[in-house]
Amino acid sequence: MTTTSIPATLIPGDGIGPEIVDATLAALDALKAPFAWDTQIAGLGGVKASGDPLPQATLDSIRKTRLALKGPLETPSGGGYRSSNVRLREEFQLYANLRPARTIIPGGRFDKIDLVVVRENLEGLYIGHEHYVPIDGDPHAVAMATGINTRQGSRRLLEYAFDTAVATGRKKVTLVHKANIMKALTGIFLETGLDLYEKKYKGKFELDTVIIDACAMKLVLNPWQFDMLVTTNLFGDILSDLVAGLVGGLGMAPGANIGTDAAIFEAVHGSAPDIAGKGIANPTALLLAAALMLDHVKLPELATRLRTAIDETLNIDKVRTGDLGGTAGTEAFTKALVSRINGA
Ligand code: NAI
Repeated sequence: MTTTSIPATLIPGDGIGPEIVDATLAALDALKAPFAWDTQIAGLGGVKASGDPLPQATLDSIRKTRLALKGPLETPSGGGYRSSNVRLREEFQLYANLRPARTIIPGGRFDKIDLVVVRENLEGLYIGHEHYVPIDGDPHAVAMATGINTRQGSRRLLEYAFDTAVATGRKKVTLVHKANIMKALTGIFLETGLDLYEKKYKGKFELDTVIIDACAMKLVLNPWQFDMLVTTNLFGDILSDLVAGLVGGLGMAPGANIGTDAAIFEAVHGSAPDIAGKGIANPTALLLAAALMLDHVKLPELATRLRTAIDETLNIDKVRTGDLGGTAGTEAFTKALVSRINGA
């Protein structure tokens, strides 16, 4: 194992963020993961401290380290500031969002799930081109949004997904779209994917296509028919929560935001304001995100040790948080996990 320290930005985040980040740091410390953390703020924490949901110092830090572990950041609904998550993805051109979902606790409603959702992270309906049209004194009479998908943006995401499928031995990739209705917006993604497969990836894995609504139904009826799902921004956001539900909920779902110049690792879930500060949050999603981060910096042995320790804590010690039907709080779970990492 390398002993060279790896500079990385740490954003504890809002709501349950600091609680699950503390748990994750305890596990990484026990593993002696060589990260040299530069702690920064964003989201509601940024607004409270400096009036800015994405302070310049945070951006500068990530520009320098090109690597971050991030707790969830709160975004007001309807009005207020634009999502710091979306802005971070744009700022560092983190065009691919990798969201693996694997059954860790057997015997649930869906067993032996091993799925990956790859979501386009920058384009589509997330570009924020939205406005209202006032009519007859009603300022919100009409709401309009523009979605943009480009051939180049679709292609780089699809190349990332297809390369990942080959590198990780995925047998089947499914392109998820709605090209029957949004013929241009999601048609371009489908067309680019089919073309890329024919020209560069044919025979390396099976390629399939499915319309988003049918995909949602099929995922609930028979998720095992899928292996890797690749889709546009909004569909990917929705499907990755659905897929998280198949493996025990949001507490179990990690995410990696990957770009050419930086990578940011986080849980799929948000700041969970309903349970913040209660000491009951499940840190597993962020811990699994830290495992993805260890893979990313080419420390796969540490990633495997972390995943094994999580598995043993949940399944052998049966220490589980409330969202998984257990009674442990975040701290008790973390203590059990650290004991496992230390080989106790
Ligand atoms: P949420 O994911 O925060 O919570 C949804 C439900 O899942 C809640 O009942 C919550 O208690 C539960 N939950 C989530 N994570 C959990 C965990 N680790 N352990 C146990 N239970 C957990 O979604 P919500 O409430 O829609 O969003 C809250 C805030 O988070 C919003 O401001 C939203 O914009 C933000 N958000 C941020 C994300 C990010 O930073 N990447 C992603 C999603 C939402």
